[in-house]
This record gives sequence, structure tokens and C-alpha cells, in this order.
Amino acid sequence: MSKQKIYVTRSSMPELSEYIEEIKDIWETHWMTNMGAKHEKFRHRLQEYLGVEHMHLMVNGHMALELALQALKLTGEVITTPFTFASTTHAIVRNGLTPVFCDIRPDDYTIDTEKLERLITDRTSAIVPVHVYGNICQVEEIQRIADKYGLVVLYDAAHTFGETYRGNSVAAFGDVSCYSFHATKVFNSIEGGAVCYSDRLNEFGLSLFRLKNFGIRSETEVDGVGANAKMNEFCAAMGICNLRHIDEEIAKRKRVVDRYRECLQDISGIKLPVVQPDVKYNYAYFPVVFDEQVLGVTRNEIYMTLAAHEIYSRKYFYPLTSQFECYRQRFTEGDTPVALYFSKRVLTLPLYADLALADVDRICDIIKSKLQLGNKEG
Ligand SMILES: Cc1ncc(COP(=O)(O)O)c(C=O)c1O
Repeated sequence: MSKQKIYVTRSSMPELSEYIEEIKDIWETHWMTNMGAKHEKFRHRLQEYLGVEHMHLMVNGHMALELALQALKLTGEVITTPFTFASTTHAIVRNGLTPVFCDIRPDDYTIDTEKLERLITDRTSAIVPVHVYGNICQVEEIQRIADKYGLVVLYDAAHTFGETYRGNSVAAFGDVSCYSFHATKVFNSIEGGAVCYSDRLNEFGLSLFRLKNFGIRSETEVDGVGANAKMNEFCAAMGICNLRHIDEEIAKRKRVVDRYRECLQDISGIKLPVVQPDVKYNYAYFPVVFDEQVLGVTRNEIYMTLAAHEIYSRKYFYPLTSQFECYRQRFTEGDTPVALYFSKRVLTLPLYADLALADVDRICDIIKSKLQLGNKEG
């Protein structure tokens, strides 16, 4: 058991020698970016691993979302959830679109399809649901609604690397799925992301490819106001290395999650993550909800107590994106009461492949002793 600081996550890295071996030939080619050999090798391996046919690698998950939305040429309103990372909402707003916030389901925190349909107007062009914490949205019902109203579905799949639902890659659902390979994710390429898309989208792939490279069509033609969102060769090389170890990493994460469940099960007032049927999980996060009415202790007190022991959990996702200062007076938090409730009570506990089980025990013991103290005082 370590008494070192424990952060909410710790980036997975290959052995240094493995990475050096992978990047060696970059010194021969001097080709460091612009869709080089590493980029292509990584893309092919990823497509195989994720079971997807159409994919573009991106500089990060945010630009995957932002440029995918742009390439879809959407207009008006986009229905999404505020219980997510800033990126989901920002990507919509930065495209000049209006996010319309739908509430979340209390069991798995994904978009509540029972509340979705009534938010559709004649200005709605898309639905952007988030497979939050790796929980899979109600993909069949979302597709049914999208088909009924002719809406595009773009999933923020940043939390779902390697997951499957009913044996299908998560990227198989909707029109577009965007992954993040940020250093803090289950799988990383230092920074990185990918857009996976359905073959129903004719022009989308080409538009996206150009948008990530300044809108360049040819040496002398630029026909789009593009950005620069290309993945460089060093990031691709890191992705290639980490992909070799991903199954082992996920298996190690499962051990940590199983231990958390064992230690924290059956405590009245504590809600552990749901286990959805038919989902092969990646164990990306361990969000725990603390009900202060039952426990006599608030989420914030647990957060502070852990921090006092140099254990750093995160209040993912607090505040709601609709409450951000930059969106002041644009949205009403009361429109998504379930999201608001969980945002005030959830804490994601430290979770990474090499987190020692003894450290998990220590984290849980600290939580439990704080709860007993709270009960006595309460
Ligand atoms: C739900 C969600 N969407 C989008 C992103 C953006 O990804 P990136 O950090 O790779 O830009 C993240 C994570 O960072 C995320 O958690």
C-alpha cells in the first residue's frame, strides 16, 4: 500500500523501450505529422480493434466532436445532456448551434428518451447523446425517435473505448461516434481522438478530412474554412503501443472496480454504478452517489476528507455544463432536475489499471469512517 498521493487517474504508458522502438523510424523519414506512416498504421489497427469501417483520426476528442458537427452541416437546435464534460456542449455552441438540454436517466445518467421527444421542434437538426461513464445510451429508442423526425444522431463516445453493446461496437450506433484518446482516458495516444461514421453518410468523410486539414482540397484549392486537427506521428506511435496492452489494462481496471464494489456494497445512501445488461465495459470511471439525507454527510465532505488524505477524487460532472459561467442566463438548470440532483452528489473515485487493491481498501475505509462520524454527529 502506498501513502503517496493518489489522483483520480494515472495515464497508461508503455515501457519506454517499446515507445522508442516505435518512434525510431521517424528519425529516418523526418515525417512527424500530416497523416504519415504511424498515423495510417494506428488508424488501421484501431479500425480493426474497434470493428469500424470508416474512421478519421483527430488531434483530440474535442476537435472530433466539433469538426464532426461542422461536417454534418447542422442548423438550429441540437438536443443533448448537460451531465457531461465541457467539450460536448462547447462543440455544439462553437458550431453556432443551440443546445437544448434533455434530462438524464437516474439509473445510468444517459439521455432520458422519455423526455426527449417533447423537446423536438421544427428547428431541431440532431441529437447528441453521451455514453457517459461508459454507460450505453438507449440506442434503439434514440434511433427510433431520430428516424421518426429525420434527425442526425452523433454520439459522444469519449468514455466508451473498446466497449460493445449486444456484441456490436459502440461506434455502430447512430450516424457518427466520437472517441477521445486523451491521456486520462482508458486508452490514450497522449492527446487524440477519432470520428467513426456510418456508410449512410456520403460526403461526410471527405468533408471531415478536409476540415481537419484547413479545408484544403488540393495544392492550389481551399474550399472550406477548416481547422488544423491532424494527429501527429508521435501521438499515433503512443496509440500503437498502448493498443497492444489495452485488453490487459481493462482487465486490471476490472479488478479495481470489483474491489470498490465489494467494499462499498450495501451501504444505504450510497449508489454504485449500474451494470447494464449486454454491455462489455471498459471500467473507465467509478462514479459513486452520496445521498446526504441518508448518510448525514455530503459529497463535498467526502471529497474534502479524501483530499485531506491526499486522495483526489473528482466531482464529475459538477457543475452541469448548462450552469457554466460562460452560459450564464442562457439555460435553466431546473429544466434537468435529475441531472442537477446527481451533479450535486456524485464523486468519481480514483481508478486506473495499476491502482493497488490495498489503496482501494484504504480509500473505502476513509469513506466509511467519515460516514460513521457523520452518522454519529448527524
Ligand atoms: C464526454 C467527453 N467528451 C469529450 C471529451 C473531449 O476529449 P479530449 O479531451 O480528447 O478533447 C471528453 C474528455 O476529455 C469527455 O469526457
